[in-house]
Amino acid sequence: MPMHFLQLTDLHIKRPGRLAYRRVDSAAYLARCVAHILAQPEKPDAIVLTGDLVDAGAPEEYTHLRALLAPLDAAGVRMLPVLGNHDGRDAAREAFADWLAPIPANAQDTRAFQYWTDIGDVRLIAIDTLDTGHPGGRLGVQRLDWLAEALARETQRPTVIAMHHPPFATGIGHMDVQSLAPEDIPAFAQIVRAAGNVERIICGHLHRSIDVRFAGTVASTCPSPAHQVALDLDPDAAPGFVMEPPAYKVHAWVAGQGLVSHLAYVGQFDGPHPFFEPDGRLID
Ligand SMILES: [Fe+2]
Ligand SMILES: [Fe+2]
Repeated sequence: MPMHFLQLTDLHIKRPGRLAYRRVDSAAYLARCVAHILAQPEKPDAIVLTGDLVDAGAPEEYTHLRALLAPLDAAGVRMLPVLGNHDGRDAAREAFADWLAPIPANAQDTRAFQYWTDIGDVRLIAIDTLDTGHPGGRLGVQRLDWLAEALARETQRPTVIAMHHPPFATGIGHMDVQSLAPEDIPAFAQIVRAAGNVERIICGHLHRSIDVRFAGTVASTCPSPAHQVALDLDPDAAPGFVMEPPAYKVHAWVAGQGLVSHLAYVGQFDGPHPFFEPDGRLID
């Protein structure tokens, strides 16, 4: 198996016993997702968590989250968190201190929850779009400057930028008004384009799989292991979520080509069944 890392996003873990939106047992969904990951034949090289890891940024929620993710910790899977609008920066710093401890201080931003690290041949740069108190995302000059400096440190290595709020419109109106702030997008795009080695921008927030061309690279969002945002491209569509299949992404490195991104559904599905007879003939 080539180097591969998983992307899990929008876990929305609440205090034990509490449902998200009084309906979604996000803890049970995450437990099923963790079991699914651990049942795969190959352990991932890392798991990147692209924000909204808890629902209200509370320390008790992070304690619950860490308990749910404990089987991955026990299996020695490297966890790389990113913050979303439902996270709390201080509570997250405390909750994830052990995960971030191996990352050298000069690879971490002391003012925002940002860092870079390598996963095999790929550099990951996690950036912080949390604008506390607001559903939409901000970067602002300081975090953008840090990103530009982080990119300048390594200009050859293929680099993945992980961020919660997508820097692009999706056509889902009620989400587009709370994506990365429009005033941050031109500067962010310029930094990405100038770097030239950004292999992918991976985002959360949308609770769906969406791909766009962006600043000379590919930007995408990822489904949640729990609830998904309803697909309705009517600009006036009412905000709503649907219980479409839970999923995560598998980003695999193919030497000589680049990063290949797969959608992996969480659930019990019939199969796999063979295409061929034991003698090699295609089953007719
Ligand atoms: Fe979310
Ligand atoms: Fe979000």
